[in-house]
Formats: sequence, structure tokens, C-alpha cells
Amino acid sequence: MLQVGPLLPALHSEIADEFAAMRLPEDDSRATFLTERGPGIRLVVTSGKVGVDAALIDALPNLEAIVNFGVGYDTTDVGAARARGIGVSNTPDVLTDCVADTALALLLDVFRRITQADTFLRAGHWATASFPLATRFSGKRVGIVGLGRIGGAIATRLEGFGCEISYHNRNQVPGSPYVYAGSITELAAGCDALVVAAAGGADSERIITAEVLTALGPQGYLVNIARGSVVDEPALIEALQAGRIAGAGLDVFEDEPRVPAALVMMDNVVLLPHIASGTRETRRAMADLTLANIRRFQTDGTLITPV
Ligand code: 8YV
Repeated sequence: MLQVGPLLPALHSEIADEFAAMRLPEDDSRATFLTERGPGIRLVVTSGKVGVDAALIDALPNLEAIVNFGVGYDTTDVGAARARGIGVSNTPDVLTDCVADTALALLLDVFRRITQADTFLRAGHWATASFPLATRFSGKRVGIVGLGRIGGAIATRLEGFGCEISYHNRNQVPGSPYVYAGSITELAAGCDALVVAAAGGADSERIITAEVLTALGPQGYLVNIARGSVVDEPALIEALQAGRIAGAGLDVFEDEPRVPAALVMMDNVVLLPHIASGTRETRRAMADLTLANIRRFQTDGTLITPV
């Protein structure tokens, strides 16, 4: 068994102890390691941070399964895996609540300027000035891009805030109580906040375009808890600088952990270091589901949560 990229420290120790998992070297010894050990590897454990590309799949001639810690698996070449009959699993459901909670935290933060108000207080301004009024969030129109498990959980939470909910999805969701928009631009034009909850990957690359942001408008906010690749980041920076949208709450970026300096300079954006699933409870549940997939594979060659 091979670990590719960093994992939650507890999970790293557990797979090393239980399965004697080896770690793929990240230095010059990688090629020699793959030549010597590659043929003996049947299972890889990785996370969305690194994943398994086509070149690595090629270097592992007897690979049978890729177990991914995380719901998103866009860094793994699933097409190349399928072509070889290699199974891929992820960790759906167990992180849905925490990721949806983070989307709501970002929405409330950007509308009500919570982070800005905290900074204002700490800077000692309260004694001499009033913090500027913010924008009401309850009752606002929110558009969700991607009404999957996480998008659906965000919508459920928004109902509690009396929001008008609409969505765009590759396919209309049968029986959904929310208003369907035929395009993302149409969705953006009809809402006060656009929340990105679509899976990453080639199909969704930069679908949040300059045109979408213009449609969202100068009073509109963008929240992204999905993947940085889904948003055209240079276009987002441009829209924020020009006041074409009001602000943004971002947990994910195009080139993590590098965040454009232009975003860091702005006070109408809230920036998080990809923490949406980052609670002790959820990361433990993700590790448990990862272990359960590994154990199932070791038992009968199948996976519990194949993608
Ligand atoms: C994790 C995530 O932080 O599940 C995902 O797709 O983006 C996050 O939950 C990530 O996968 C860990 O590397």
C-alpha cells in the first residue's frame, strides 16, 4: 500500500501501523522508488491535495484501487484509472454538514461584515467611530451552483434564514422545491449571493466567468466552498477591484496554498485556508470512511464508496 501526498496525521499513522503503508517520496528518490516498489503496489491512499495523475498510474502496473480522503477527487485522473479497471473511492456524506456550515458562515460574514467588524474593534476604533452599517442577510435571494449533497445541505440551512433559493445544475433536480435557472448567468442575475458548490474538474473549470460576475452585480456576493478551479480567479479579482460585485467569501483558490496578493489586500473579501471540512469530528469521520474502504478492498477487492 502506498500513501501519496500528506494525510491527516492520525490516518497516516493508522495506515502505516495496520497496513505497513509506504509513503511515496517527494524528492529525487521518487523515480528509483517507483521502479523498485511500483510493481508491488495494489492500493494507493491519497487526498484531494495531491491525487494520482496518469503518469503515476502508469508507474504502478499492478494498481487496483485509489482510496481518496475527501469528497473531491479532481486531482486524480479517474479516466486513466477507469481505463485500467482501477477503482476510485472518496468520502461523501460525512463532510456535508461541516462544508454547508462553512458556506453559511461565509455568507453571514460577508453580508454582515463580521470579520471587518472584529478587525475594527481590535484596532481600537470603537471608542471614536461607529462601525458602518452592513447588509441584511435573512430573506435574501441565494443562487446555488451545483445542487448535489453539499448544495442541498446549504439550501436546507438557507430555508432557516427565509432565503429565496434558486439553483443551476448540469441537470434539473427532479422534485426540488427550488427555482431552476437554465444558466449560471441567469442564476447570478436573479440573486443577491451566488454560492459555488459544484464539483471541481475539467467540466466545471472557470464556469464562474467575468460575465457571471457582472450578472451578479454591484450588490452581489460570491461564496466558494467548492474548488478554486471553478471560478475564473483573475476575473473575480478584476470584478472586485472594479466594484462589479460587492464582495466574496472564499475557502478555496486556484493555486493553493498561494492566494493572490490582490485578494489579501481587499477588506470586502473573507479568505479561509480551505477549512470547510476541517473539524475534528468530520476529519475523523473522513479518516474512518477512508479506512473502511481500505479494509473492504483488502477483504474482497471492492470499495464502499466508489465514485
Ligand atoms: C479536504 C475537500 O480538505 O473533501 C474535499 O474534497 O476539499 C476537503 O474536505 C481535502 O480533501 C483534504 O485534502
